[in-house]
Amino acid sequence: KGCKLVGCGSAVPRLEITNDDLAKVVDTSDEWISVRTGIRKRRVLSGGESLTSLAVEAARKAIEMAKVDPNDVDLILVCSSTPDDLFGTGPQISKQLGSKSNPLAYNITAACSGFILGLISAASHIRGAGFQNVLVIGADAVSRHVDWTDRSSCIIFGDAAGAVLLQACNCEEDGLFGFDLHSDGDGYRHITAACKEEGATKAQDSNEGVLDFPPKKHSYSYIQMNGQEVFRFAIRSVPQSIESALEKANLSASNIDWLVLHQANQRIIDAVANKLELPSEKVISNLANYGNTSSASIPLALDESVRSGKIKAGQIIAASGFGAGLTWGSAIFQW
Ligand code: ACO
Repeated sequence: KGCKLVGCGSAVPRLEITNDDLAKVVDTSDEWISVRTGIRKRRVLSGGESLTSLAVEAARKAIEMAKVDPNDVDLILVCSSTPDDLFGTGPQISKQLGSKSNPLAYNITAACSGFILGLISAASHIRGAGFQNVLVIGADAVSRHVDWTDRSSCIIFGDAAGAVLLQACNCEEDGLFGFDLHSDGDGYRHITAACKEEGATKAQDSNEGVLDFPPKKHSYSYIQMNGQEVFRFAIRSVPQSIESALEKANLSASNIDWLVLHQANQRIIDAVANKLELPSEKVISNLANYGNTSSASIPLALDESVRSGKIKAGQIIAASGFGAGLTWGSAIFQW
């Protein structure tokens, strides 16, 4: 059985924060941020907006583009590490989309790789278990988990949601050509937002030696990131992963029409494109406007490029996500 992408959509919060706005709250500058990252502004949830409502808006646009009845969506995968509810938001999104068919809906946690993992999971559900119309949503509000006094991390992230609809088709129409997925628990320490006992400085300090009952209150710490290690990991692993996905697809880098990477840092995007010997005209980047939107960044960039007419029907896309976990993965697919 085959599967193909038939719709995409995205949504961003109303509040825009520029680098100059950030320079008013932390010791930084527009020049430092744009030179080191390529980011100029980002959107942040505020004024009662929820991540679930952004996800619903993105999903609705994808369903409309695909001209599919919401009741015919039989699976919703919500890729998010920062959901409105720790127990998952898939069923709520399904309800808000107006679905009356009670489809399977659940969340996947894989930080900035979430969307690629979701896409491959969706394809496996279609190929192996007979699902027909699968919504894959990447939605993150990392702004809720950054320390807005830490200039090394708060400048990077923005909030957004993006979605695609993957549909079952016959083998001849199959539009997902190859993929490659990995994790590395050794590198976990380089980017964390761990659960810890309140008052403890890190997760491991919690309850050391003391068997407390009832347990003390726990909460998640702010994101802690060793930017240089994550940077090195990305430029080492992402080109390898794309090459491996291309090999499985029986294609080479010269077949790629568009490179749509997780939008983390312009220097990472440039280094990966360089290693793959892809000219900058084939590289999609909207990082300047939105920053790193975690699992939303790939479907957001895809949606903008499809709607602007940049990405055209039939073109081949190499997409790759990477981030906390560590996790990373790539997919080669046709729009
Ligand atoms: N403004 C001004 N100066 C700053 C800022 C800032 N916002 N942030 C750090 N600095 C300073 C540092 O203190 C340091 O000063 P020092 O030399 O006096 O010690 C100097 O600038 C250099 O800092 P570095 O951390 O070495 O800067 P680097 O060039 O590595 O850029 C960055 C940092 C942007 C974080 C980069 O490492 C990066 O993008 N890493 C990848 C992050 C990423 O891709 N994450 C994706 C996964 S996210 C997820 O999974 C949720």
